[in-house]
Amino acid sequence: MNKKRILFTGGSGKAGKHVIPYLLDKGHKVMNVDLVSLDCPGVDNLIADITDSGQMFNAMSSYTGLDELEPGTGVPRFDAVVHFAAVPRILINPDNETFRVNTMGTYNVIEAAVKLGIRKIIIASSETTYGICFSDGKTDPKVLPLEEDYDVDPMDSYGLSKVVNEKTAQSFQRRSGFDIYALRIGNVIEPNEYAELFPYYFKNPEVRRRNAFCYIDARDLGQVVHLCLKKDGLGYQVFNAGNDNNGAVIPTKALAEKFFPHVPITRELGEHEALFSNRKIREVLGFKEQHNWRNYLKWD
Ligand SMILES: NC(=O)c1ccc[n+]([C@@H]2O[C@H](COP(=O)([O-])OP(=O)(O)OC[C@H]3O[C@@H](n4cnc5c(N)ncnc54)[C@H](O)[C@@H]3O)[C@@H](O)[C@H]2O)c1
Repeated sequence: MNKKRILFTGGSGKAGKHVIPYLLDKGHKVMNVDLVSLDCPGVDNLIADITDSGQMFNAMSSYTGLDELEPGTGVPRFDAVVHFAAVPRILINPDNETFRVNTMGTYNVIEAAVKLGIRKIIIASSETTYGICFSDGKTDPKVLPLEEDYDVDPMDSYGLSKVVNEKTAQSFQRRSGFDIYALRIGNVIEPNEYAELFPYYFKNPEVRRRNAFCYIDARDLGQVVHLCLKKDGLGYQVFNAGNDNNGAVIPTKALAEKFFPHVPITRELGEHEALFSNRKIREVLGFKEQHNWRNYLKWD
């Protein structure tokens, strides 16, 4: 089935408010489950807390809106759950609270989905699992480019919560045989942020070392989620969700030599090819980037 009935958690946030319109545009029906509503035509909202298991079971067995009462055939089943709700980095809440909300929330969401028979689950993991982003001091990755088979080893509560969530996903996938895909999302960039942020990044490239210079356009992230909804039968998968090129002006080889001089490069890379590799989403899902930063900013 191409047009799916989707329960989307955390859709009112930075990423979700762009991903949801992308999914609506593809014909999907979306109910947003968040602590705050998303004001977006065509989206039903349910205010609920992912850290409360009962609320997740209830939300996933709910009508999305009054229109679904009309046929008189009972509550339809969701075809998929897209789980983005989280504390999105360290230093917003105390570390233990970040860990609790993210790990218990994700456990609750996946458990309810699996036990209610929802066979496609997509969760937001993070580039921070690679352990560079929120490390104490300047950390080198073991190799570059960063690819999905890397032995992830973050030292912060947020990155650790995302590693635990990937394990939770893998465990429920083994038990159920359903499709559960974890997206290691790169630094999300909204359309207005190219003009607002990138000039500063280009003048001060060192500030992007912790992200390995990655970015994902929020609308291209919508495409990644849509492709994951379309692609069935892959079991448990981890995908880096990033754009094709680095969010930097300096070519990849020079960038690696300047900022990661001691890190082995494991394969040939294109002139601007991202050090946070998106090869897997291109090859397995058929991702085709639509929003390279060079479409929005001229820079010599
Ligand atoms: N923004 C990035 O650069 C980035 C990078 C990598 C991964 N991610 C991940 O992508 C996802 C979305 O990130 P974002 O930037 O949109 O974050 P965000 O903070 O803007 O949005 C998260 C949403 O989750 C909701 N939420 C938080 N706690 C909740 C709870 N207990 N119950 C229900 N809803 C709750 C918030 O209200 C918010 O609307 C997160 O899982 C984040 O960890 C984000």
